[in-house]
Order: sequence, then structure tokens, then C-alpha cells
Amino acid sequence: MAIHLVAAQAENHVIGRGIEIPWRVKGEQKLFKQITMGGTLIMGRITYDSIGKPLPGRKTIIVTSNLDYAQKDCLIAHSMEEALSLAAAQDKETYIVGGGEIYRQSIENADVIHLTTIHTEVEGDVFFPAQWQSDFELKEEKQFESNINYTYRCYRRIKTN
Ligand SMILES: NC(=O)c1ccc[n+]([C@@H]2O[C@H](COP(=O)([O-])OP(=O)(O)OC[C@H]3O[C@@H](n4cnc5c(N)ncnc54)[C@H](OP(=O)(O)O)[C@@H]3O)[C@@H](O)[C@H]2O)c1
Repeated sequence: MAIHLVAAQAENHVIGRGIEIPWRVKGEQKLFKQITMGGTLIMGRITYDSIGKPLPGRKTIIVTSNLDYAQKDCLIAHSMEEALSLAAAQDKETYIVGGGEIYRQSIENADVIHLTTIHTEVEGDVFFPAQWQSDFELKEEKQFESNINYTYRCYRRIKTN
């Protein structure tokens, strides 16, 4: 099964401010739902706290260093390796859905990156990682008009052998 990374960034690569996503864009969450539905989500504990509940129709794996941490209907992992092996055991597509710390540690494991760029610049303190594009090729691009226009791009890792 492929490992997908799913993220939305502003044009200045901001993905978050504190625990919040610093924009409201109509339709963008629907796109996230379409991409991830039926799969297994891996997310950091801070991102889970900001969502506050498991998302319907998807298994949630939360990564935390806290050995006592538990959430109803979620699986808990204490490293990225553990998260990826729990996800592999689910036998469904795996979607790494943030936030910044988790993207940084997992971009090297991603086969596919679904990256939506919101066409605005916003203030924030959490960023999408830099310097990954040379390992990936653009496979799909789709423009959306909304209260803030956005572009979805799907990248696949370039095979080397
Ligand atoms: N725009 C988007 O697409 C998008 C998507 C998701 C999130 N976000 C935003 O991103 C921000 C959150 O990102 P963040 O970087 O602050 O936090 P995060 O990546 O969501 O979570 C970080 C937490 O994950 C745990 N963790 C990370 N690496 C670990 C490891 N190797 N082993 C064990 N635990 C590990 C730690 O939890 P403990 O502290 O419990 O040990 C750490 O504090 C929010 O603003 C959110 O809204 C944006």
C-alpha cells in the first residue's frame, strides 16, 4: 500500500498558526475528505488536539511521546516507525496528515504527496517542509475557485533503480 502525505499550505508555506489552520476556504475540507476517506490517518498529537475527535470513516493513529496517552477509537504510536507499522497492519492506504513535525519526519517515507496551495499569504508559525521537490514529479494539477482560490497538486516519488 502506498504512503500518502496530505497537506494544505499558503503561498508562503505556512500550514498552521498555534494549533489552528489560519484560513477558512470553502471546499478544501471536502477535497481532504475525498482523498483520505476509507484509509488510515497518521497525525501528531497537536494536530489531533486541534481536531478533537477521530474523523469518520477513517482509522486514526496519533503519534505522541506520552506513554499514558489514550483516545477512544484511536490507535497510539510512540514513534513514526511504530505509526507506519500500525498503519501497514490496517492494510489500507496510509495518509500522513500533519502537522509540521510529523511532515518533517515522514516526507522521506512518502510515495505520493497531495499538496493544496491556498492562494494567499498568511502569518503562522508552522510550515510545510522545504526541499522535497527534486525527488517527486507532478502527476496532476487542478485549480479551484472559492472565497480564496486554491490549487491541488499530486506528486509521485520518482523511481530510482
Ligand atoms: N495545513 C495543513 O494541511 C495542516 C495539517 C495538519 C496540521 N496542521 C497544523 O499544524 C499545526 C500542528 O503541527 P505541529 O508541528 O505543531 O504538531 P504535530 O506535528 O501535529 O504534533 C507534534 C506532536 O507529535 C508528537 N510527535 C512528533 N514526532 C514524534 C515522534 N517521533 N515520536 C513521538 N511523538 C512524536 C509529539 O507529541 P507529544 O507532545 O504528545 O509527545 C509532538 O508534540 C497546527 O497549527 C495544525 O493546525 C496543518
